[in-house]
Amino acid sequence: KSSIFKIAIDGPAASGKSTTARHVAHRLGFTYIDSGAMYRAITLKALRRNIQFESPSEMPHIINLANTSKIHFATTTPIGGSGNDNTPQTIVYLDDEDVSADIRTMNVSRNVSFVAALPEVRKAMLAKQRRYANSTDIDGVVMDGRDIGTAVLPDAQVKIFLTAITNVRAMRRYEQLKKKEKELVVYEEILRDIEKRDKADLERKVSPLRKAIDAVVLDTTTLSLSEIVGKIIEMTNNMKSDAVQLSGINS
Ligand code: CDP
Ligand code: CDP
Repeated sequence: KSSIFKIAIDGPAASGKSTTARHVAHRLGFTYIDSGAMYRAITLKALRRNIQFESPSEMPHIINLANTSKIHFATTTPIGGSGNDNTPQTIVYLDDEDVSADIRTMNVSRNVSFVAALPEVRKAMLAKQRRYANSTDIDGVVMDGRDIGTAVLPDAQVKIFLTAITNVRAMRRYEQLKKKEKELVVYEEILRDIEKRDKADLERKVSPLRKAIDAVVLDTTTLSLSEIVGKIIEMTNNMKSDAVQLSGINS
């Protein structure tokens, strides 16, 4: 479908991308695609197979995993509106297994930027991401990551670059992981992971973390989630009404 509306949300670790993207997608009836979850899933699979990340001879194995793994998403809406967050949750499947919780562990976080820097892995993920974005039964997609506005969906009509100061991002991620009680979380460790990952993501050669020239920067240190979601919805509605007016002129 050529009329699919695309929203790209990029930014450093824990800047609020996926929470923002989920709310925007929910409000607009669009599909949310979490590109970071895909790199995390490949990393999880490599860890389970005891692949030695820094060893050059193991590289082909990781690339092979990226080329042969099946990754897909499903969305669930919590029933009954328990609590105040009834936004849909994304379930991530790796070869038909629900890995939504397993891909968020610190062990995966510590290794994912290495996997994501491999050009062949990025090539495989990019092909999947474009395929998801162009599937036919949806009106629009919201995709978040590091290179969505620059490399994956350069034609996105709305591009957002989310930022927040590092300490705030680390504290939010700490609170988020603590609630899940999947493992012991230490604030300093999370801060260090975020700093290391941001550095690696900024410095890699292929599709580094960059603000697209036509992206709008929104700082979540000072803006609330609802303000940010509101701004993105407004930008989307403006783009849509411009498009309608243009097609009226042309016909
Ligand atoms: O949620 P958080 O921001 O901590 O990370 P994520 O979005 O799940 O992404 C995990 C890692 O995947 C990042 O640190 C990047 O190394 C990589 N990634 C990427 O290279 N390109 C993307 N489009 C998305 C994620
Ligand atoms: O996807 P990304 O890693 O960029 O961040 P996230 O997982 O959406 O957000 C990390 C944490 O920050 C979550 O617990 C969000 O609820 C919280 N958050 C926030 O407090 N204020 C915002 N404006 C955005 C996110």
